Amino acid sequence: MTNAQKWVAAFLVVFIALFLLSKLTEKEEDFTEELDFYSEQQTEAAQSASVDGLTLINRVGCTNCHGVDLKGTKLGPTLYSAKEYWSRDKLINYLRNPASYSGDERFEAYKAQYNTVMPGYGNIDVKDLGKIADYLLNLEGE
Ligand code: HEC
Repeated sequence: MTNAQKWVAAFLVVFIALFLLSKLTEKEEDFTEELDFYSEQQTEAAQSASVDGLTLINRVGCTNCHGVDLKGTKLGPTLYSAKEYWSRDKLINYLRNPASYSGDERFEAYKAQYNTVMPGYGNIDVKDLGKIADYLLNLEGE
């Protein structure tokens, strides 16, 4: 072999090695993506299958202030009138950040009436807040 031929051979070997390596790493990435996708689907399925709005309301402890029947206590107002004031989106936003409504006239009156403040629930998954909102907006009665 001449020197030139050796160089060409060396380049070919390096090229083939890099090519194989890139193929290998490509496959690994695909695989982990699939895994992530799979486990995401599983947790979503587990959440939506097992937990409804009322369960979340009880679990989170909304009932501590709004009452086991959600009709209000000394610590918080009834939630039966939520449907008069809120659309679904607005209610979800409110639950995430109730403090942003503190200037509102209605909420000034609440502040005078209750010694507690409504805590923010930005840490709860929006989908779960949606379930809570759906439950509250479908409460029938006073
Ligand atoms: C520590 C007591 C407390 C807890 C816990 C609590 N709230 Fe409240 N909530 C209040 C008070 C007090 C108000 C009155 C408004 C204010 O202070 O911001 C209120 C207001 C509300 C309102 C607005 C009512 C209206 O007339 O527009 C909704 C809806 C609501 N809460 C839902 C919930 C939900 C759902 C949970 C649980 C995820 C919850 N609250 C947990 C105390 C509480």
